[in-house]
Amino acid sequence: MIKLDNFSSFFVANWKLNGNFQFISQFIAEISLPRDKSKCIVICPTSIHLYYMSKNKKEFYVGAQNVSQHKDGAFTGEISADSLSDLNVNFCIVGHSERRQIFCEKNEEIKLKSVNLINNNLIPIICVGETLEEKEKGITNDILEEQLKKSIPNSSNFENTIIAYEPVWAIGTGLTPTNEDIDDTHRFIREHNDKFNKFKILYGGSVKADNAKLITSLLNVDGALIGGASLKTDEFTKIIQD
Ligand code: PGA
Repeated sequence: MIKLDNFSSFFVANWKLNGNFQFISQFIAEISLPRDKSKCIVICPTSIHLYYMSKNKKEFYVGAQNVSQHKDGAFTGEISADSLSDLNVNFCIVGHSERRQIFCEKNEEIKLKSVNLINNNLIPIICVGETLEEKEKGITNDILEEQLKKSIPNSSNFENTIIAYEPVWAIGTGLTPTNEDIDDTHRFIREHNDKFNKFKILYGGSVKADNAKLITSLLNVDGALIGGASLKTDEFTKIIQD
């Protein structure tokens, strides 16, 4: 398993359902990685492209965007944590809000997926975050508390799990919370449970070249989960080089 403590910050590219072989070859040819080796760069292409990515990658890590909650068996179309580790995949995003909302994933499944990943020496990046409606009702912390309690397995610790705070209303919208709100929410997560104190906590939701540096330098923020901006090689390069 990757030693998370070796890194001071994490930049995780979530390509969602985008990219083909041509895009990936071009991305790999054009991406300029930071000289600062304390930055951990993780690229998460579609599952279909994981093998190609891990065979052709530069000095970054490869992550998946989803995994089965089941270890193996009669589950047509699923991808196991064990098969991800066969491909030298080191990270996997779990419980992204698109999976929670569009594919109706529940906290309990997210927990099972994370357990499978940890058991196969992969690091789950477990996403939590409130919707706009929940934010407007002023129940953000209650929602986060429930998601953290129910989706993070007992076997998780700061060495084998990353948390990503992604307000749902900030994803793909160009909107972000204020830096103060981001830092406060990360502190809430960190202090919510003694166990989370040393966890790496990433922020995601409309991170771009022009806000990444400020966001990732906040006291309680250990890096970023980046969607749209990670598909533009020059913009992503700026984010990781800054
Ligand atoms: P975005 O997506 O950067 O395009 O807002 C982030 C994510 O969905 O992880």
